[in-house]
Amino acid sequence: LKVLSVASEAVPLVKTGGLADVVGALPGALEPHGVELTTLLPGYPAVMQSLKRARALHTWDSLLGTPARLVAGKLDSGHPLLVLDAPALFIREGAPYADAAGQDWGDNWQRFSALSRAAADIAGGAIVKRGKAQRFDLVHAHDWQAAMTAAYLRFAPFGGEAAVPSIVTIHNMAFQGWFGREVFPRLGLPPAAWSMDAVEYHGGVGMLKAGIACADAVTAVSPTYAREIRSSAFGMGLEGLIVARGNAVHGILNGIDTDLWNPASDPALAACYSHRTIERRIANKRALEAEFGLNEDDSPLFVVISRLTWQKGMDVLLEVLDHLVGIGGRLALLGSGDHLMERGLHEAAARHPGRIGIRIGYNEDLSHLMQGGGDAILLPSRFEPCGLTQLYGLAYGCLPVVSRTGGLADTVIDANPAALAAGCATGVQFDGVTYDALAAALTRTVALYHQHETWARIRKNAMKCDFSWKASGKAYADLYRALTA
Ligand code: ADP
Ligand code: GLC
Repeated sequence: LKVLSVASEAVPLVKTGGLADVVGALPGALEPHGVELTTLLPGYPAVMQSLKRARALHTWDSLLGTPARLVAGKLDSGHPLLVLDAPALFIREGAPYADAAGQDWGDNWQRFSALSRAAADIAGGAIVKRGKAQRFDLVHAHDWQAAMTAAYLRFAPFGGEAAVPSIVTIHNMAFQGWFGREVFPRLGLPPAAWSMDAVEYHGGVGMLKAGIACADAVTAVSPTYAREIRSSAFGMGLEGLIVARGNAVHGILNGIDTDLWNPASDPALAACYSHRTIERRIANKRALEAEFGLNEDDSPLFVVISRLTWQKGMDVLLEVLDHLVGIGGRLALLGSGDHLMERGLHEAAARHPGRIGIRIGYNEDLSHLMQGGGDAILLPSRFEPCGLTQLYGLAYGCLPVVSRTGGLADTVIDANPAALAAGCATGVQFDGVTYDALAAALTRTVALYHQHETWARIRKNAMKCDFSWKASGKAYADLYRALTA
């Protein structure tokens, strides 16, 4: 089966969040199931630089108004990569979706519609090799940036031929790609696409909405999130459409790439270890304390690796920091985002020298060391479609302390008396992202930490969890086959 996976980011080339981890890992996850996944990415500067030769497989004189060409490459994993080289859209300084000041690019509607239009063309046979059109059996589009692919396949397939089936995966319902109605005439879609059942949303163009409406199947990145988005609290306005799509909506949990995230072989660690050599782990805790200017001692060391946003509950975390220190905890935090939150964190670090250390920015290696040296990782998310850092925490024995929502609810087993008695606990969960709930969870975690045998048992359970792609790779492969049968 040949599948085209379309997204706006993938590790190791370009990453702003978990989407990149998932898109980068999917080809390897599907390979054992006889699926060849080719990834299509925008030609951002970093992506173009990774290409060895840049021979064009296809050219567009005008792709929604700009010249573009398609270039082949390879992901680090060796899996096939296609890059949309459209310099006017993608060669610019700044982040993938925003300029250096954090302002969204004004032409994002065009940048990502062009990516989607290209995907529909490619799937339909735009690449011709030795006189033969290379087709794909299915397109798998991720998030709003690629979701329009499903609309193009349905309303304007390449060469007017019967459309290739599509899947849209929702990684985060909070980002929907909504644009004013004036962009519609420039999308190259027929008037029929301007409908409540397709692209139109609240008088404008809703790109994620269009994808959910037009795709043959829709997936969300955890079973609980797939249920939650049926309600107004999580559906962000699209709950009615999700309910209407009924059985076409599936929840498939993300996996983790165990080649990149394995404490037994991680080059970013001060000392590698497994659950059998857990005593070596302490070297990472010492390295982490040194990195963050924290006192060297045996008190519990919490870590946070996160975008600093309301979604992630970072405002409530800020409020609870004095309590965290008051009960004998320490914190090392790596993240960036909201400037007020950044300032609040710096103030907390200044109030608690040696006990709270902050690093504002993005640092892949440091994030690995934090998983390998921290005692517990905090995720007080208000919603969390899947969440990957709790999965990395489980694998590294950095026990997750999480709010009970989305993928966090699906992947952590709370250390309540029943789970402790049954010997299956892997972390701590709490209900509702409030000061009281988070403070109580922290108090409970610190108490568990001081019961050495119990803590060791929970940590071992966590490290033995299998959140690799094995099960979810098969779930995607089964869905691909069902749609192409
Ligand atoms: P989201 O995609 O909502 O931000 P996820 O938990 O799915 O949340 O994925 C976040 C990914 O980004 C993880 O791989 C995490 O380790 C990484 N990450 C987040 N913030 C940072 C940071 N400041 N430095 C390094 N890695 C980070
Ligand atoms: C989104 C979600 C996160 C999820 C990631 C990968 O960024 O916020 O929960 O893990 O996508 O699917």
